[in-house]
Amino acid sequence: MNLKTIINKGIKKTPGLKQLNEHHKFNSQFSYDKRFFRKNYSHSKENKEKLGYNMLLISHSLEKGMSNKNPRRFGGKKTTELIKMLSRYSLYSDYENDFAFINAINILRGYASFYEKMGWQESDEYKTVINNLREYKNIKQMDVGSHTIFKKDFIKDATIDYRQFLFSRHSVREFLPKKITDSDMEKAVEIAALSPSACNRQMCKVYYVNDKTKANKLIQLAQGFGGFEKDTINLLVVTFNINANYMIGERNQGWFNAGLFSMNLANALHSIGIGSCFCQFGNTVKEEETVKRILNIPSGERIAVFIAAGYYCDKMAIPYSPRKSLNDIYKKI
Ligand SMILES: Cc1cc2nc3c(=O)[nH]c(=O)nc-3n(C[C@H](O)[C@H](O)[C@H](O)COP(=O)(O)O)c2cc1C
Repeated sequence: MNLKTIINKGIKKTPGLKQLNEHHKFNSQFSYDKRFFRKNYSHSKENKEKLGYNMLLISHSLEKGMSNKNPRRFGGKKTTELIKMLSRYSLYSDYENDFAFINAINILRGYASFYEKMGWQESDEYKTVINNLREYKNIKQMDVGSHTIFKKDFIKDATIDYRQFLFSRHSVREFLPKKITDSDMEKAVEIAALSPSACNRQMCKVYYVNDKTKANKLIQLAQGFGGFEKDTINLLVVTFNINANYMIGERNQGWFNAGLFSMNLANALHSIGIGSCFCQFGNTVKEEETVKRILNIPSGERIAVFIAAGYYCDKMAIPYSPRKSLNDIYKKI
């Protein structure tokens, strides 16, 4: 037994020391979260990614203004701010094809059309937008702003037997020994991208770890893969980007958005014949950094969850995982 193991055993057996040790562990892990958030949230030192997310935030707010039922002139300060942001963004390389940039330009175009429709062309904010848009004439067109939807058009698609669909999904831990094809993976991720996200910032990402050596390293590192047919796992890692979050009240925003995204991803996979099981990322921050290093994940991202996935076998053994009753989880107040 080495010295470290002896000390750890001693600590565990001594009540006062055990508490002190726990206190230290809690402090170090939680203060990492705090430091990480402060260093990477969108109002810390500007970089391209943070600026992009701040542009998405303002763009979305302007877009909402265009869907107002009783429109008034709006967005003077926000359009000016967005124009300034666009010129800062243009200083970074490869900016023209970025979603945040194209979206922002199109929001300004939509804003100008909205003002024209309302007959507000004499306003200063309209003139400022029009003058600045000249610079971005060649940027790709995108549908933004507000549009009207009719219940009769979507209600038929919405009345699928959703309960039956969800009832047919189970976490599975063995798969056919086959790689998920790119087209299936891409299809599932495109469906998951339809998930709602706070202010449409779309802060989540999926990494499909196709390199077997890397995947094995991660599978060993995570804690929840006991009982899986490990050789058959296609490993997915879902992350979210703290660069998208703009205030302390958003400190848990990423986890929540990643939850919505991941569930839709699992359901999307299920809808195309691919089974999955979440594997919690209950790891230390040091291990999280190791995962990020192995996958070359950008510094502002955090790991939300691992997902083991693969094509369904014909026959699988799974736990029942019974559900709590309605009374346990629902209360009318
Ligand atoms: C966030 C999250 C983390 C999970 N982590 C693990 C895990 O580490 N290992 C595992 O075998 N299952 C894991 N699961 C799967 C759950 O055990 C499973 O979803 C639950 O028992 C309900 O069963 P069902 O998914 O078949 O409906 C996880 C599920 C979620 C949502």
